[in-house]
Amino acid sequence: MVASLRLRAGTATDFAEMARVGCEAFKGNLINNALFPEHLRQDSSEEDERQWRIAVLEKGSQTAGRHYVLVIQDGEGSGEEEEEEIVGWAEWQAPKDAGGTELATTTTVPESHLPLAREPASFDKDALEVFRQQTKLLSGQVLGSGSEDKFWCLYTIAVHPNHQRRGVGTMLVQWGVEMARKSQSAGIFLFASPAGKNLYSGLGFRDLGQAEILGDVQCAMLWEPPPSAES
Ligand SMILES: CC(C)(COP(=O)(O)OP(=O)(O)OC[C@H]1O[C@@H](n2cnc3c(N)ncnc32)[C@H](O)[C@@H]1OP(=O)(O)O)[C@@H](O)C(=O)NCCC(=O)NCCS
Repeated sequence: MVASLRLRAGTATDFAEMARVGCEAFKGNLINNALFPEHLRQDSSEEDERQWRIAVLEKGSQTAGRHYVLVIQDGEGSGEEEEEEIVGWAEWQAPKDAGGTELATTTTVPESHLPLAREPASFDKDALEVFRQQTKLLSGQVLGSGSEDKFWCLYTIAVHPNHQRRGVGTMLVQWGVEMARKSQSAGIFLFASPAGKNLYSGLGFRDLGQAEILGDVQCAMLWEPPPSAES
């Protein structure tokens, strides 16, 4: 039997599992290696990364317009016994002026649920700062500074390695394309790693320019809605 995949909104109760999938998906990724470098490695590094990912999700969920979208594979059980597995997820940011959307997922996390505001010992804060500055520089060069706010932005996409090349990434990006169309926005802007670039080009994104950031190539990509038939 072919397992069926479906989309649903992600909420705070999913963050621990999303972090686990994120850790698996980004294993060996060059930017991830720079954020958790060998010279800072501790016994706790894997747990540190998982906790850091949870903290990033919790912080993001307090930002207006942030959407977490999951692809779920349902298990064989029935009724209440049915097990669902998160096989991939994406973190989307709506444009500043976007209205409500069908899968509105922004959740407010209670203060008590927030982790301590510190990065783990195995995390390189300077590398994160370099990443932030250089991606900002690249988006400024290709879009003009401050223009990102007009677009839907894909911040993170992660598909568990056991479920890659089954169309999960496509479902997560198509969700954003649908939102970008419905909200009549300027389109979608994202940074693609070499692993993700073909996924986006196949969905009509075009390459705006690239830069080497933390030893990885980051390619700025744009999807623009087709001109409507009436205009
Ligand atoms: C990139 C990623 C999200 C793709 O997810 P996915 O579910 O495997 O993607 P899909 O199955 O929808 O693939 C759609 C198309 O994208 C392209 N593609 C996907 N993964 C690819 C890869 N590793 N290498 C080359 N092309 C790839 C292919 O053209 C593919 O179509 P095909 O399978 O018919 O050839 C997934 O590999 C991932 O999570 N990678 C690790 C995390 C990461 O790098 N995230 C940032 C990406 S910018």
